[in-house]
Amino acid sequence: MRIYERPRSSGEAFYTHTTTTTTTRPSSKRNNGMASLVASNLAAAAKYKNPVAVFVGGTSGIGQGMAESLNRQTKGNAHIVLVGRNKDAAETIISKMKAANEGPSTGSYDFVPCDVSSLPNIKPAAATILSKHPKINFLVLTAGYLWSFIHELLPSLRSAKEAGEDVKVLSVYAAGVAGSGDAAAVGNDVMIEEYATRNPGIVFTHAAPGAVRTNILKSSDSVMVRGMGRVLPLFASLFTVSQDECAEYLWSGLYRSTASTGSGAIPGAHRIGSKGQDLGMKAYYGTPEKRKEVWEETVKVTDTTEA
Ligand SMILES: NC(=O)c1ccc[n+]([C@@H]2O[C@H](COP(=O)([O-])OP(=O)(O)OC[C@H]3O[C@@H](n4cnc5c(N)ncnc54)[C@H](OP(=O)(O)O)[C@@H]3O)[C@@H](O)[C@H]2O)c1
Repeated sequence: MRIYERPRSSGEAFYTHTTTTTTTRPSSKRNNGMASLVASNLAAAAKYKNPVAVFVGGTSGIGQGMAESLNRQTKGNAHIVLVGRNKDAAETIISKMKAANEGPSTGSYDFVPCDVSSLPNIKPAAATILSKHPKINFLVLTAGYLWSFIHELLPSLRSAKEAGEDVKVLSVYAAGVAGSGDAAAVGNDVMIEEYATRNPGIVFTHAAPGAVRTNILKSSDSVMVRGMGRVLPLFASLFTVSQDECAEYLWSGLYRSTASTGSGAIPGAHRIGSKGQDLGMKAYYGTPEKRKEVWEETVKVTDTTEA
């Protein structure tokens, strides 16, 4: 395997993989660390044979980075499904992933259009995915905390587990960094616990990506976040990572997380930080009562049967 790495701009890394030797040309300690992370993720991915991975929010940002990263790690042998609204973006990303593959590959690429802000859109989108993929190994959610998508895709997640394969779900939001008043962060924490308890053998994770240079900084509804988007590039190499770097960190955390261990007392429920590290129960504000409340509310709102 050859890993060629060069700085794209200050602090940003670019990777391509070919087949025989290893050449690393890092310009900094940070790039050295990233090169070894890329190599260890490549080694971790080798155990998966044609994994199926669904990226809800795969048409941009962190989801895009994670899809492209898996494509590199598996050398084009993963089945990748991108879910989002932007068909043009999806087609561009898929072309880029195909072009990155060297030699014959056995993977596949699909775009499933879905505006997830409207719940009735989710069942048909999930049904399209289930019909093509009776087994799913990875479900990565970056377009919001979308329990409905997990509920709907559980049959294929469970089938993969019953076939003895690794199955991992990742919700990217704000593990370990939000306060007790952030209902979405608390909701993510308690829901991964509830899902892990109800689905032994499957890994459910909540991650905090850190500050990542993605579209969210330009398109957020929040004036403060958009303001950060204008200021952050000035300090980019110090305080932020590219979506490619973020993807490698999050994959490292996901590969490390197992169904028999957990960040707290619940096996399979993990919280991972922006470097892929285990956060333990840092800044965890869930309670058993909160968990029950969020679960019951979700089942009601999503009109989903017991999962
Ligand atoms: N970037 C950061 O620094 C940062 C920091 C902390 C937490 N986060 C969290 O990480 C997650 C991902 O952030 P990001 O930076 O990757 O964002 P991003 O670049 O804006 O990407 C968001 C993705 O979600 C999809 N999406 C958004 N609304 C959708 C809708 N209604 N229906 C379907 N798809 C939708 C978008 O696809 P379409 O445009 O195709 O619909 C896109 O693929 C977010 O939950 C964010 O809160 C990010």
